[in-house]
Amino acid sequence: MLSPREAVRTLPSYHPPLGGREGLRLDFNENTVGCSPRVLARLRQISPEQLARYPEREPVEKAVAEFLGVSPPEALLTNGVDEAIHLLCETYLEPGDEALIVVPTYSMFRIYAAATGARVIEVPAGSDFRFPTEDILSRITSRTRLIAIANPNNPTGTVAPQQDLLRIARSAPSAAVLIDEAYFEFCGLSMLDYWREIPNLFVTRTFSKAYGLAGLRIGVLLGDQDQIRSLRRVSSPYNVNGVALACLPDALADQSYIREYVDEVCEGRKRLQDTLKSNGIPFWPSQGNFVLARFGSPEFIQKMRQRGILVRDRSSDHGCEGCVRITLGPRLHTDRLLAALQETPQELGIAQGVSKP
Ligand SMILES: Cc1ncc(COP(=O)(O)O)c(C=O)c1O
Repeated sequence: MLSPREAVRTLPSYHPPLGGREGLRLDFNENTVGCSPRVLARLRQISPEQLARYPEREPVEKAVAEFLGVSPPEALLTNGVDEAIHLLCETYLEPGDEALIVVPTYSMFRIYAAATGARVIEVPAGSDFRFPTEDILSRITSRTRLIAIANPNNPTGTVAPQQDLLRIARSAPSAAVLIDEAYFEFCGLSMLDYWREIPNLFVTRTFSKAYGLAGLRIGVLLGDQDQIRSLRRVSSPYNVNGVALACLPDALADQSYIREYVDEVCEGRKRLQDTLKSNGIPFWPSQGNFVLARFGSPEFIQKMRQRGILVRDRSSDHGCEGCVRITLGPRLHTDRLLAALQETPQELGIAQGVSKP
């Protein structure tokens, strides 16, 4: 009988709750209003001939590389950052190798690494989800072949000090060290400034968040050109679809749209954090387009849904008991969110006396 590999048979399945997402979507860290109008105009111009052709990644790769200040051989466009993580795992991990991740973090690190047969070592974050630099350093062995770090991290919104990330990358020269900067635009800190010093360092950026293109599936993996050459061998030449490739240059060209959106999200993040603080609800200061807060009760999510607002239950993540992650959008969406949060704790099903771990 046909049977999947052992590593796949034992893989936990990951089912993000995508069904029935009607209302204000503050549950997936997406852009809550959508992409630049320039992208929509481009979409309307796509011809049947364009769709009939296999997509050509290279010219857009060049444009993205130029935008990010790297050379084209250092950039690989991918089917979202998810594919970049997958390619890194496929390129560097063998059964029995070790992959280090910090928990809680983005679920796909663990899934793609475990699917190769590698041993995934979860290093718990410190108190208040502080980045556990020393613990990571102490877990690096000769078998460590991947260290994956989201910075800012999802779901906590916390950031790791750049000097610590450099120390980690230098301490594990035989490991691919991925710094996933999916939330870069909301934080502004990047390892791209350092990465030429360290050939095992990779950086990813996505167009799913600030750019509002999650449905098109496009991201970019950046790294040393020799390493990227190996990753290209593993990748399909047609991994990024033609519609995404046609739209991306317009998305990049409309930086004022991105700036305006990001400014409103960051303002909303502060307003939400202030509201949580004044209501005594524990939360962790975030550098992403979301805030993790301990409302202490699953009822809160249902109550918010009844008010037409979707938020994400993160209570099963490591150290996140009773926690909900709330995505921020532009001002009008924050107004709606904060209006709902003005209701009494009883009305919102918020547990009393919730505290940090
Ligand atoms: C840290 C992190 N990386 C990657 C992704 C997925 O990005 P993409 O849509 O580009 O695959 C997410 C989405 O939530 C994320 O939080």
